[in-house]
Formats: sequence, C-alpha cells, structure tokens
Amino acid sequence: MSSTAVIGLQWGDEAKGKIVDLLSPRHDIVVRYLGGNNAGHTVVCNGETYKLSLLPSGILHEGQISVIASGVVIDPKAFFAELDALTARGIAVDSRLLISDRAHLIFPHHQLEESILEASLKDDAIGTTMRGIGPCYRDKAGRTHAIRMGDLLRADFFRKRLQDVIAYKNRLLVGLNPDFEGLDFEAIYKEYCTYAERFQPYVTNTTAYLHDALDDGKRIIFEGAQGSMLDVDHGTFPYVTSSNSSGCGIHAGSGVPEKYISKMIGVVKSYSTRVGGGPFPTELDDETGQLIRDTGKEYGTVTGRPRRCRWFDAVAVHYTARLSGVDCIAVTLLDVLSVLDDIQVCEAYEIDGERTTHFPSHVEDLLRVKPVYRTLPGWKTDISQIKNYADLPENAKRYIATISELVGSPVELVSVGPDREQTIIDCQ
Ligand code: IMP
Repeated sequence: MSSTAVIGLQWGDEAKGKIVDLLSPRHDIVVRYLGGNNAGHTVVCNGETYKLSLLPSGILHEGQISVIASGVVIDPKAFFAELDALTARGIAVDSRLLISDRAHLIFPHHQLEESILEASLKDDAIGTTMRGIGPCYRDKAGRTHAIRMGDLLRADFFRKRLQDVIAYKNRLLVGLNPDFEGLDFEAIYKEYCTYAERFQPYVTNTTAYLHDALDDGKRIIFEGAQGSMLDVDHGTFPYVTSSNSSGCGIHAGSGVPEKYISKMIGVVKSYSTRVGGGPFPTELDDETGQLIRDTGKEYGTVTGRPRRCRWFDAVAVHYTARLSGVDCIAVTLLDVLSVLDDIQVCEAYEIDGERTTHFPSHVEDLLRVKPVYRTLPGWKTDISQIKNYADLPENAKRYIATISELVGSPVELVSVGPDREQTIIDCQ
C-alpha cells in the first residue's frame, strides 16, 4: 500500500500542484476528488508552465492515469477549453483520463444564481470565484435539481430531467430578478448534448475502477484542491468553499477509504494568503504585505484577484494538520521570504485577553483575534538554487524548525522556486 494524499493546510494556493507533479512519477494514478474550476494549479514541467483547473496534474505525465472522481463538479465548457488547450500543446489525453459518472455538472443557472446572491450580500459577500460551484453543490445536497454525468449520458432521462430543472430555475431566477428573461431550455439542451458526446469516452464508474486498481497494487496520489481552511465543515465558515477541502474530503469525494493512504502530506506556504472575503488574522495590509504579494506573484490563477497576504499562522495550520492527520508537511515558496529582514510567525491567538492555540469555530471570535507573534531573523540571501537542507542559511533552517515545532509535524519537503528541481527533499 503506497498511496499518497497531498492537501493544502491553509486557504488554498499553497502550490500543491508542484508537489503532486513532483511525486507523480512514483504513482500510477492521480485522483482529483473535489471542487471544480474554482481551483487553479500552476505546474512547471519541462520548462513549460501549465495552468490546470479541473484536470489532475498527472495528465502532464505520459503513462499515468488521471481520474476526476465523484466529488468533483464539472463545468463542461471550462473542462473542454482546458482539455483542448492541453491537446493543442501536444499533451495526449485520450486513454489516460477517466471521469466519474457520479460527478455533478455545472449549468448556466448555477453561475446566474451565484452572481445574484453574491451581489445581494454586498459587504458580506463570500467573494467566490463565480464559477457556479456553490449552487451546484447546493443542488447536489438538495438532490431534486441536480444533474450528474451519468444522467447526461442517458439521452431520454437527461432531456426530461433538464426540462424540469430549467422550468424550476426560471421560476427561481425571475423571483430573484424580475427583469430576468429566462433560460432557453432548447439551447442549453443542445449545447449539453454536444458535451455528452465528447464526454462519453471518458466517463466510467471511477469508484469501482479505483477499488480494482488498489486490489491490483496500483499506487494512487490524491490531489487536493483549495485548502483546509476553506473546508465547508471545518473551515472559516461561511467564508469557505462548498466541499470538504481538508483531508476529510478524500473518502467522500473518491470512494477510497483513508486506510489506503500511507502518507498524508500537508502543503503550506511559508506565509499565508487568501482570496475572497472573511476574517484573516495576521493580515498584512501594509508595505510588507505588498512586498510578499509582488515577490510571490500572489495574484489568483483563476480570477487574477490580488491575494491577501500575511504571516504564517501556526494556530491555523496546527489545527488543519491535526484535522487531516498529516504525516509531514511540505513548505513552499520559502524563497519569497528571502527579501525580508525579520519574519514573524503567529504562535498563538489572544481573544478577549485569553491566550489560546485552538482555532476558533465562529467567525465572530476570529474577528476579535489578536495574533501573538514570534519574531525570527531573516536570511536575506538567494536560496533559490539550494538543493540540500544542510546548505540553507542557518536562519532559514531555524524558520523551518519553528514551523515544524509549532505545527507539530516534520517538514519533509521545502520548495525554493517554481521548477521541479528547486525542491529540497528529506529535510533532516
Ligand atoms: P467558491 O469555491 O468559488 O465558492 O469560493 C468560495 C471561497 O473559496 C472564496 O473565498 C474563493 O476565493 C475561495 N477559493 C475557491 N477555490 C480556491 C482556490 O483554489 N484557491 C484559493 N481560494 C479558493
């Protein structure tokens, strides 16, 4: 049993794509199990940069199978745009991609619902990616107006189901916005029938496929999307995404029990970022924040939005590392901190004068958090070409050791640049 999971322990964008890409060659199958085209994974492979959103990064490796499992929500238009762009760059996808017949589909009404809802929330908006992810998961949980990949491929079933769904959604959308002219059932039906034809060769019961693959001794890598703090049950609710983006989502989203995962790797940036709304203790709304943003190119892969930057929050990461039971952590973008004189790490929170190292469950408590910092000296030298842990400057090693101590997990990988080669493995 040598399956691996790579999950984000912060608010997403931890550079998980690079870590998955690095470990992929030791595995036979890469599984994406949650989220949709709200995610953005940047992978630098053979000197080429790829921005993936729905496709697992294993797609870049010949001979490896990529699985989009049941927990993913798929926008067909976005999916085929990504697929066609990869094919145009010479990546042969065909027999290496499998899509779950249980995966849910995103339709135009999902994006419309989301834009009306987010606009109506004004200052309280979640700041979603506007890809229709939340409304699609809402329909999944509601069951009666959801459409899955398996439904799309049954022509008669699909036509009838879509008719009912569109009729209902038109009533809903007109209720929310009286000027709304209504969705055109025939146009959507026609468009999705062309998608059905293109999806056909890829769609299968991926749960059964993965169970059989494990019985055959195949090695699987589970590629997380978003970060644990965006987990709908355990994150900074309601400023979260609509699925279980911590390690808790792997079983539900793929059908593979956790007992098959021999290594759970939690990925963290050496600082913290988030996009979208919600409280964010230790936010650096100043020159240092801007310096980190510019040095780390902290602008969203999906939406281009500037990311909110702040110091490493060990309270948050200690919590998410325990939540998912990580075996080790991978620290990415350490090179970005090379520009700083001093570096702070948030080691505890103070709420109403009380010190705690437990992450609060309510957003109102999070708003009252005063971070307690430990200040560490910077190293002010280029570390981007360093290959061995021993060669890192003493202050960089001290920083890594501090993260490890506060999070309570060994650091096994350190990334010092976007290329595969810019990675320090076995950090002892
Ligand atoms: P949604 O997933 O589009 O519903 O957005 C909900 C929240 O999750 C927003 O704050 C988004 O910015 C955030 N989010 C969703 N996907 C990602 C991601 O891949 N990286 C970082 N933030 C994300």
